[in-house]
Parts: sequence; C-alpha cells; structure tokens
Amino acid sequence: MAEELTLQAEHAASEAESLDDLRQVRSRFLGKKGVLSQRLKELGSLEPEQRKIQGQLVHQQKKAIEQIFISREDELKLSLYQKRLDQERIDVTLKGRYIAPGALHPLETTVRIVLGVLQRMGFEVEEGPEVEDAFHNFDALNFPPDHPAKEMQDTFFLAEPFKDKFGAPSLLRTHTSPVQIRAMEDRDPPLKIVAPGKVYRCDADVTHSPMFHQIEGFWVDKHVTFRDLKGILTELIKGVFGESIPVRFRPSFFPFTEPSAEVDMGWQNGWLEVLGCGMIHPNVLRAVDIDPNVYQGFAFGLGVERFAMLRYGIPDIRLFYESDVRFLRQLQDPLIR
Ligand code: PHE
Repeated sequence: MAEELTLQAEHAASEAESLDDLRQVRSRFLGKKGVLSQRLKELGSLEPEQRKIQGQLVHQQKKAIEQIFISREDELKLSLYQKRLDQERIDVTLKGRYIAPGALHPLETTVRIVLGVLQRMGFEVEEGPEVEDAFHNFDALNFPPDHPAKEMQDTFFLAEPFKDKFGAPSLLRTHTSPVQIRAMEDRDPPLKIVAPGKVYRCDADVTHSPMFHQIEGFWVDKHVTFRDLKGILTELIKGVFGESIPVRFRPSFFPFTEPSAEVDMGWQNGWLEVLGCGMIHPNVLRAVDIDPNVYQGFAFGLGVERFAMLRYGIPDIRLFYESDVRFLRQLQDPLIR
C-alpha cells in the first residue's frame, strides 16, 4: 500500500504538463490536507510500538514523494527552457543587409593619382576660388586686352552684383592658372605648388564639358630651368600612365609662358596632347612684384577628364557626370583611397 502511493505520485507527477499543474498535484500528496498529512494524523490512533514503525515508513514515503516532485519540476523547467530556446532561435546563417560602402569618383581617383606623383616630388597642394576676377584670370597672366578668350562666347561672366573689389566684372575661372597669381601675391618664392579644381568654359561636346577639372602646377625659384620642367613632367606622365609611355614636347603658345610647349604622350600608334606648359613669362612675375632677373619658374596645366578618359578608356566625357552607378562601378580603383 505504501508502494502504491509512491507509484500514484509518480504517475500523477509525470502527467502534469505545466508547473501550475504540478503544484496542484503536489499539494494533493504533500499539502496540509494532502494524503500524506492525512496518513501522519492517522498515526495518532496507533499503538506506540506500531506508531514508531509506521511513522518511519510514512516519513520515508514522504521523502520519496518529495523527491519525485522535485525531479519532475526540474524536468518541466528544462523542457520549458528548451521550448523557449527553440522559439527564440535566430538564424545566424541568414545573410545580413548589404550596406554599400561607396567609392571615390573616377575623376577624384585621377586627381589623387596625379597629386600623389607630384607630392612625392615636393609639390604642395593649394586651392583657389572658382569665381575669379579678370585680373587674376587674364590680365596678370599677360593676356592682351583684346584676347579672344575674354569674349562672352568663351567665358561665363557673372551678372550684377558679382564684381571684384575694383568693380571689374567677375567670371567663372576658365583655367586654374589664376592660382599661380594668388600664390605669388601671397608669398615669396620658392613656391612649388599644385592646384586642382573646377574650371568653366562655354563649350560642350563628347570631349568638352562647360565645367571640367584642371590641375595646375608651378615651381618658382632662383634656378628653375626648362630642364626641370621636362624632367618633372616626363616623370608625372610616366608616373600616371606607366614607365613605358613615350612622351614628347612640342612648341606651343600661351600668353603666360615663354617658351611654351605642349606635351604629347604615345597613344595607339600616334600622339595625344595631354598638357600645356612653359617657363613663366617675365610679365607674369612682374605683375606680382617678383623680379624675373632673380627668379624663374615653370608652370603646367592638365585636364583631369582628359587624363581619366585615357586612363580608363572612356569615349564620352558626359559619362563622368551622369552618376550612373553601373558606369562608376566599372571604374573603381581599390588601391586609391
Ligand atoms: N592654363 C592653360 C590652359 O588652360 C594650361 C597651361 C597652364 C599652360 C600653365 C601653360 C602653363 O589651357
């Protein structure tokens, strides 16, 4: 009979499916009004001898049944815990959402490559304003008063109230050469500067855009010669396009350099013009109060779009400005940051 109660408890406990159920079942056996309390009370009516023997049995039984409920409680808690783990599982093998890191624009990449080569040769990077006055853009650069570049159809002049401090009309700079003037107004030589930036001309077709980018470079010191110009520009083009690229210098004309040259590089069995350069004209040095008998310098200007079109093999300049990621993605240069 004692055995039977333990079996009953075991069975009832195993039937309980929740902690609440189990608590109720437990009190049926072990509660104040439970079966075991009842048994303990009944001991009172027994003979002392019998009471002692039966008492021990009931106590052992109570211990055994308590243990049954403890085990079942552990079992239930564990299975509830397992169930929660299953329900709250996250699938760590699921792919995360891709966050596009972005990339440099191919024109910016090209600027950085060119600046990098020149910085390693001692040039410092400096910038000038895109809205210029005629003095810095033309006059100080030795353009004669009637030069065709000053005509309305070639240059963007700004309407009132944009005037320079002398009341002269202001304009969108047509080249980065005015940075030469600003740097030399600011400081005495030696100056070894490279100036990237936007420039503007009334011009648009597959190789020309009304806004494009140039990089100006110049070096002014007491012993700068045409030989330095040739060496540095040859180094620049080979540094950007590769050591094996042939480079040639061809006489040319700019109002602000004398002598002037254009630099061509070998391209598809022919030559392609990639930059303009020359020794800074004495009149330009005089315009900024530098004595041309003491100082000389060279200057050069190159088109960033032209460089980028050659470097990447792009046929149409407008592709650079359309922000079509399918185009831009093809030109990513993972090495340039
Ligand atoms: N400023 C000239 C241009 O825009 C380029 C140039 C710069 C030529 C410096 C000579 C020296 O065409």
